[in-house]
Order: sequence, then structure tokens, then C-alpha cells
Amino acid sequence: MLDLLVTHATLPDGRRDIDIAVRDGRIVEVAPAIAAPAARTLDAAGQLVTPPFVDAHFHMDATLSYGLPRVNASGTLLEGIALWGELKPLLTQDAIVERALAYCDWAVAKGLLAIRSHVDVCDARLLAVEALLAVRERVRPYLDLQLVAFPQDGVLRAPGALDNLRRALDMGVDVVGGIPHFERTMAQGADSVRLLCEEAARRGLRVDMHCDETDDPASRHIETLAAETLRLGLHGRVNGSHLTSMHSMDNYYVSKLIPLIAEAGVSAVANPLINITIQGRHDSYPKRRGMTRVPELLAAGIDVAFGHDCVMDPWYSLGSADMLEVAHMGLHVAQMTGVDAMRQCFAAVTSTPAKILGLEGYGLEPGCHADFVLLQARDPIEAIRLRATRLAVVRRGKVIAQTPAATATLELPGRPASTAFMR
Ligand code: FE2
Repeated sequence: MLDLLVTHATLPDGRRDIDIAVRDGRIVEVAPAIAAPAARTLDAAGQLVTPPFVDAHFHMDATLSYGLPRVNASGTLLEGIALWGELKPLLTQDAIVERALAYCDWAVAKGLLAIRSHVDVCDARLLAVEALLAVRERVRPYLDLQLVAFPQDGVLRAPGALDNLRRALDMGVDVVGGIPHFERTMAQGADSVRLLCEEAARRGLRVDMHCDETDDPASRHIETLAAETLRLGLHGRVNGSHLTSMHSMDNYYVSKLIPLIAEAGVSAVANPLINITIQGRHDSYPKRRGMTRVPELLAAGIDVAFGHDCVMDPWYSLGSADMLEVAHMGLHVAQMTGVDAMRQCFAAVTSTPAKILGLEGYGLEPGCHADFVLLQARDPIEAIRLRATRLAVVRRGKVIAQTPAATATLELPGRPASTAFMR
């Protein structure tokens, strides 16, 4: 007896009319026309069933704080950091937990079941660390939360930050973070990359740094990050987030840099909603987009994911945990409009970030966790086009969220009575 049988699914790889059999929280069979009794059946009716969305870059300690204690009037990165500085002393653990749990509700409803969140460790009380460690345990039954120890004000620049970061890791934070371009000098930025990679190597942890989140083409900390990855043998465990300076770098230099990143097995996360709104702020016209060179990184075989970064916080007033909105923006900013490129944008919010996070049992093969999302779309490209409704979200074989199909009724002479925006 199966716990759940999904019928007539289309899969992201294009296979159609596929059934998915689930028992004890795992997928046991993926094949056409599975004939087995099941406690519950879900008819996908030819629509797309995908593994869950994954967000490789988020800030859950700041999310949903929009308007506290005031809004970011200019919308710039620097006013955002200043605003976060004003908010930090006012934070309480209960308030961080409450907002994070509310965000996770949104995430689940949108089929987003794994998030890597940075947590600021520059407050000696480590209030946000304690809060998000508690949230990680609270949400574990329905969402995988991976935490990065993030020294927002610079691990060398902020007094006590290295000690706080080590304490956060001792408390169980999963990943080592950093922000080399925010240190006082380029040399200190490179020093911070070295010392943080060594810390990760000693502890056997992954690394995820905010790296070169600037329009300055001379910000080349990604080079040091790749070199340190090679030196310390951290291949496959290191990610560079943002990498926006690469947008503005000299092409000759980039032709040397990208092969180095590929050789080191360093992955990249672009944050299109944030990069397109925060970079290029010192430009008049033409205004740079600021997002890193996604198609060129992908062409070199580098794993590139799209992250949400912010939702309703000091840096970004919008967002709703919708990774299809993130993919939609990334596709446009990177001009990834070819058929294969659009599919890569879907992978950038599903399978690629799952690999970057090192998620176990992710996918739609037998043996994987029975975690998946039924979308009101027939393929990944249509899913991005429509920011498709998540008809059903399944975790470990149980439906944990549902949304009614998006269909508009029409009252027009000689026209159909409804439309779901599909041809
Ligand atoms: Fe970030």
C-alpha cells in the first residue's frame, strides 16, 4: 500500500504522463501507469511536478522587518546597512523568531522548502543566531534551513566579529560567511577570505561569502576565494554570492578569472532582484545592470543559482518567497531568453541551489525524499512565464500546502467563459 500516488505528471526533464509512488516519506517508483493501491491519489492532469524550490541566498534575521524603525527612503545598499544598524539594537529574539516563522509559512506556500540564510554575527549578544537556530529546529519537519555565520560589518573591521563568528559556529551554525569587499582595504579583504577559508577547512564546513557586491571592477576577492579553495582543498564546498563587480570587470581579466573559478569548483549565486535594484546607483546613463555574468559562468561549467536575498527588509521592500519571480527577473536581466537558457533559469532556483547547499535526497528519482511541488504549468518555461500557482506542495509524502488554480472568469460576447493564460 502506497501513502501517495501522483498520476499523469510532467517532469522538469520533459517526460510526460509519469506516475510517482511514495511510501514512508520517500519516492519508491517513477514510471508511467503505476498500478498500486494508495492511501491518497493526486492527479497532476499533465501539469508539472518539480522538486521543491531552493533559495541559496537569504537573510532571515532581517526579513519582514519593513518599516522598522523606518523605511529605506533612498533604496540604496548603504542606507539599508545603516538602517539595519539602527534596527539591530531594537531586535528581540521573540520578534526575530515570529517574523522568520511567518516567512517560512510563505515559503512553504510557494513550494520553497530549503533556504540558506545568512545570519548577522556582529552583535555580541548573538540574538539573531540563537533565534534562527531555534527556528531551524522548529521548521525542520517542513523546511530545511541552513545557516551561514555572516559578519555583516566585516570580520576584521568590526570589533569582536571573528570571536562572535567562531561562537556562532560552535553553537551549530552550518556555514562560514564573509564580506571581503566591506573590509577597510583590498588587502584586508583578501586577509579575511584567507582566514575564513582556513576556519572552514579546520571545521570541515562549507563557505559562502558575500563577495564583491559592488560596481567596482577592481574588487577581485572572488579570485582570492577561488585560490584559497584550491590551496585548502575545499573543492565543491565554496560559494561566491553576488559577484556583481564581475559585471564591470575588464573582459580580458574575466577570461582568466572564470576558468580559475571553474578549476576551484566554486559555485556562484546571483541575486537578480537585489542586484538590479542596488547596483549601478552611482551611474548616470547608461546605467549598469550589475548582475554577475551568469551565462558565461554557466558556459564554463560553474554551478550558478539565483537567490532571493531579501524580502521586505531594510534593503528591499518587495517579495513574497516566490522563487519563480526570482528566476523571472534573472532570466530578463541576464537576457537568458533561449530555450535552454530559460530551462537553466528554472534549474537555478531548484536543482542547482540544492547541489550548492548539499541537500541529501533531493530530486524525483526513487530513493529521494518525497518532496515536490505540483504547478499550474505544463513545463518549466511556462512556470516562469506565469510565476505559476503552486497547486500542491508535498513534504515527505504529505500535502502541506495548497493554492486554488489561477483562473479568471470572463463575461465577453462570443468569447470563452474563463482563461488561465495558457494556449
Ligand atoms: Fe545577501
